[in-house]
Amino acid sequence: MHRKRSLIHVRLLAIGILSIFGSLGCSDAQRADVARARESRTRHRLSIPPLMTPETGPDGEKIFHLTARSGETWFYRDQPTETWGYNGSYLGPTLRATRSDRVHVRVTNDLPTATTVHWHGMSLPGSMDGGPHQTIPSGETWEAKWRIDQPAATLWYHPHVHRRTSEQVYRGLAGLFIIDEPRRNPLPFEYGVNDLPIIVQDRRFDDARKLVMKRGFGNVVGPLGDEIVVNGTRLPFSEVVHTLVRLRILNASNSRVYRFHFDDDRKFSVIASDSGLLRSPVLVRSLQLSPGERAEIVVEFEAGETTMLQSSDPDLGMGFPMERLNGGSDRFNVLEFRAAVDLTPVSPLPSNLVTIERIDPSQAEIERSFVLGEFAEINGQGMDMTRIDVSVRLGSTEIWSIENASDTFHNFHIHLVHFQVLEVNGSPPSGHEAGWKDTVQVPPGSTVRLIARFDKVGTHDAPFMFHCHMLAHEDAGMMGQFTVMP
Ligand code: C2O
Ligand code: CU
Ligand code: CU
Repeated sequence: MHRKRSLIHVRLLAIGILSIFGSLGCSDAQRADVARARESRTRHRLSIPPLMTPETGPDGEKIFHLTARSGETWFYRDQPTETWGYNGSYLGPTLRATRSDRVHVRVTNDLPTATTVHWHGMSLPGSMDGGPHQTIPSGETWEAKWRIDQPAATLWYHPHVHRRTSEQVYRGLAGLFIIDEPRRNPLPFEYGVNDLPIIVQDRRFDDARKLVMKRGFGNVVGPLGDEIVVNGTRLPFSEVVHTLVRLRILNASNSRVYRFHFDDDRKFSVIASDSGLLRSPVLVRSLQLSPGERAEIVVEFEAGETTMLQSSDPDLGMGFPMERLNGGSDRFNVLEFRAAVDLTPVSPLPSNLVTIERIDPSQAEIERSFVLGEFAEINGQGMDMTRIDVSVRLGSTEIWSIENASDTFHNFHIHLVHFQVLEVNGSPPSGHEAGWKDTVQVPPGSTVRLIARFDKVGTHDAPFMFHCHMLAHEDAGMMGQFTVMP
């Protein structure tokens, strides 16, 4: 705060200079109109990752096949880009299973290098987690089997190779894993029609349309792209044919934080956080998501209208000028919605979605504290594959307190568990953060206390990870390992 105040004159000077340039020629509003009209003609239909139909094994398990491979993707019309994907050239199919299903995923690595596939947000044993200890060498196949044991949620999968995660995700390796409940809520549920996967990533292309990772001057969060792709589509638009549409938004970017809102500032309902539905919908005008986080929102549309999902000025809490140099003043059009002239009416959102029992803090066996450093260490130590940082007793409940003692924006993700946020800087979390989460934002100077139950085994050979999900930080070593054992 004090740092911000002392620099306020610098900011005023900058604003003054910017507005002088801005007033030359046509007005900002005119310029924006022209740009938008031009852009809207060249938009591409949003691609929807295919929903994968599993085979059914003899004992009823659902069998999925994923093959990681390289390929070419047409982000631009003139030239393709070399990318990586699962079963395709960029991203991967959406996997879907119902609570208590047994799933079996066979992952083949056709890449020229080793990879892993981590099920982000999944409650499963450490040996199936797909972290840096479950490496799949080039040319080999890894079998992951587990039973779905958690509430309906939008999870995702991505590589988790020691020191190579950011590069592999950037090339295109990521996909969604949707979990359903046998008994569903009356929510929009038609995949790709009124229940849309929205995988948001920032990318940078050079003149030859090659993907490049670049860090600008003063960048400490990690490489930022200057273009947005949604489900691998540049400049996307989506047609709307229902009055209510559910968006399952995943921030699958390496380092970019988004503050999503619509260009007309309409309200929308947040119905789910990372690991499940909220108790009831929370009405907001904007929603900030950091890398790895998901949210499900429901948006109401009127016949014939067009509206733009945008991201502007995410609050990184880094102060001037670092805030700006790390994406804090960036603005993007993310996805245009074009509503048909006739919309199919959808029943209104239920006011109660699920019951969420608060985990009682007095059940916690221990409170641990984690201090995030500038960009490569937690509690003063960098990631070491041979060191176990935390040993948790199987079946126990713990409180973890995460403090960001640095000037850099971080978040914090824990494998295996979904947690509840107890406090953010001493206050209860806001409505949309009061449900189940697995990744939480921890801006500079803040402390987040969370509580979780640890109920799957992770041994010394197959421990779980906790880390910052800003991928450059994670790869630099801002990660630790924990076992869960009786
Ligand atoms: Cu999204 Cu350790 O992962
Ligand atoms: Cu994870
Ligand atoms: Cu970080």
